Amino acid sequence: MEFLLPGRKAPIIYESCLESTNRSLKEMARQGAAEGTVLIAGRQTGGRGRLGRRFASPAGGLYLSMLLLPGCTPEESLSITPLAAVAVRRAVKACTEAEPLIKWPNDLLLDGGKLCGILTEQSFDKKGLPRLVLGIGINVNTVGLPAELGAASIIGSTGRETDRAALAARLIGELDGMYALWRGNRGFFLEEYRAHCSTLGRELDIIQNGCRRRGRALGINADFSLKVEYPGGAREDIRFGEVSLREAEKSLDKTGRTR
Ligand code: BTN
Repeated sequence: MEFLLPGRKAPIIYESCLESTNRSLKEMARQGAAEGTVLIAGRQTGGRGRLGRRFASPAGGLYLSMLLLPGCTPEESLSITPLAAVAVRRAVKACTEAEPLIKWPNDLLLDGGKLCGILTEQSFDKKGLPRLVLGIGINVNTVGLPAELGAASIIGSTGRETDRAALAARLIGELDGMYALWRGNRGFFLEEYRAHCSTLGRELDIIQNGCRRRGRALGINADFSLKVEYPGGAREDIRFGEVSLREAEKSLDKTGRTR
């Protein structure tokens, strides 16, 4: 099914089941899909996550990818993923009773569990300009996710079903609006990201290339890297990898502490 929203040039395409919306949209991009094209699936059989992982995508979730052709260098487009985290937070807050927090670099947490994952995949056109496929998976009305995933869902937290079409429309509106502003200022949402980032001030394990180090999150830099301090006092800006809250800190997330 294909939809056009008033004032929006690119289509929104819905399929009940796909292997991966990112994978299909990448293929559509190779065949000339317009910037802003959105592909949504009711479920995915091979949802892709960061670092080569799978993203469990049963019915009840929102699985959405958007094609962006920003015409800038890969470094300049690095803030697209944090932009999406802020857009998801805004859309979920507007459409539901849930208020997720951002976990650096690009997960959203609810009640301490993972509510949403974001995967931006980049390829290049014949002129060498980047094509970005921004993929977002949100556990909306999802039930029965395996406990070992540490996942949260909107229905699990609020006890209410969410209208996924309304949430998707709001999210697309937020992404369109923020992306238009981003073209003029790549960091305009930095303060909003910082204000809702639950990672700051926390004791973490920093995991990079299979190596795990203990540190404390001091802040988010202007380029959205994470400033950490190691036990001896040395500081570093972390640009890739992931962080995991140390055990003692996990219970704090469930009591609603945000910093
Ligand atoms: C992560 O948390 O590791 C990122 C998960 C990203 C999942 C979304 S769901 C829509 C899009 N299609 C995919 O195959 N992956 C992304």
